[in-house]
Amino acid sequence: MSKSKGGRTIMDPNNVRMREFIYSLITINPKLTILDLGCGQGYDLFRISQLMDNESKLFGMDTNQKSIIKANENYGQDTRMNFIHHNFGQNIPFDENSFDLVFSNNVLECIADKQHLLREVHRVLKPEGQVIFAHFDWDSQLIDGDNKELIRTITQTFNDCGSEIIEDWYFRRSRANATINYSYCFGC
Ligand SMILES: C[S@@+](CC[C@H](N)C(=O)[O-])C[C@H]1O[C@@H](n2cnc3c(N)ncnc32)[C@H](O)[C@@H]1O
Repeated sequence: MSKSKGGRTIMDPNNVRMREFIYSLITINPKLTILDLGCGQGYDLFRISQLMDNESKLFGMDTNQKSIIKANENYGQDTRMNFIHHNFGQNIPFDENSFDLVFSNNVLECIADKQHLLREVHRVLKPEGQVIFAHFDWDSQLIDGDNKELIRTITQTFNDCGSEIIEDWYFRRSRANATINYSYCFGC
């Protein structure tokens, strides 16, 4: 997805393009108060801040303390930006009707109690506020299913042999009616 060079994050162009598309969904108005759930090191919130006026307020939250420190180092000099260490297992530490936009990118699949988080989003969102939950993956895969022995064989073969062989093997098993749930996730 991205790599670090001299403290700067270098993003893959496809990754950037996908993010830019997601930002294009934001309804831009003056003085918006924005919350980014699972902000990581703050890249999305920084890019969103560039679309906003000087009276906007932007808050990023993440359970990873190192990411919050890095986000503050990267973008904390902009007084509109605030990064808060918080785990979504707890209530969001803001009053109801606080935010015009609640944004979250590549996070919801990491959350154990999604209902709780969505209730909290509803609580802190202003009436007529906007919610953007997005997800995209490029780099890694999660293989899951009921047959744990089969899953272990798949992942071990994948590690040992590489993706071409596992894909070939996977499709041969599919034809033999093996049931495998195949989904993607990164970073969790
Ligand atoms: C895949 S990363 C996405 C980061 C960023 N939104 C992006 O798209 O680059 C998922 C982020 O969600 C955060 N996260 C996962 N579970 C969380 C939780 N229960 N509470 C708060 N943050 C969480 C992780 O620390 C991580 O920074």
